[in-house]
Amino acid sequence: MGWQWSCGSATYDKRQKTCLERLEGDLRAHMEAVKPKRFAHSLSVARTAEQMALAYGVSPFEARAAGILHDWDKVLSAQEQIDHARRLGVDLGVDAELVQPLLHGITAAKTLPERYPELPASVWQAIERHTIGAADMSDLDMVVFVADGIEPIRKDVPAIHRVRHLVEQGAPLSEVFWASFSSGVSYVIETERYLYPGTLDIYNELVLARMCRR
Ligand SMILES: [Fe+2]
Repeated sequence: MGWQWSCGSATYDKRQKTCLERLEGDLRAHMEAVKPKRFAHSLSVARTAEQMALAYGVSPFEARAAGILHDWDKVLSAQEQIDHARRLGVDLGVDAELVQPLLHGITAAKTLPERYPELPASVWQAIERHTIGAADMSDLDMVVFVADGIEPIRKDVPAIHRVRHLVEQGAPLSEVFWASFSSGVSYVIETERYLYPGTLDIYNELVLARMCRR
């Protein structure tokens, strides 16, 4: 049995319900056959984001919609994601091959608004930021970022366990995000992967903001 945490059930009006059903159906058609695990992960992120939204006073509709769609471009191979990003003019200032795992959120946020004009800009921002983060994350951005890292299908390794525990304790959202973001940075360093300089900038900005708050 995976991690279990619930904050109650969200209530949606008819329009929102119809929209969420359509998004889930579209994701199923787009992803389930080719990437069944990624499909299950996406729905799990959507549920976790919805629950966190309820806990932290964010729109559960926007959180769930962003969760459903956040990995839309993960149906593409690594090389296809790079080519897709280049075609869309995504430029992170370094060779796209080096930051391939970061590209799918940015590309999805560029292309999906045309398909779903009914969704607000806040949803696209949360999707865009779910891989890299930002120094000025909105509450919705943080909810989606964290939900992606702690959804119940993910194994309960110590770094994830710590963040889940903070959520269970009702820790401030900025602290939960910091724990999730900084453990991601640690993981990149521990596993000797390429650390995107933009991530380091965000890390330093968050550290300085935390110093000022003390
Ligand atoms: Fe994800």
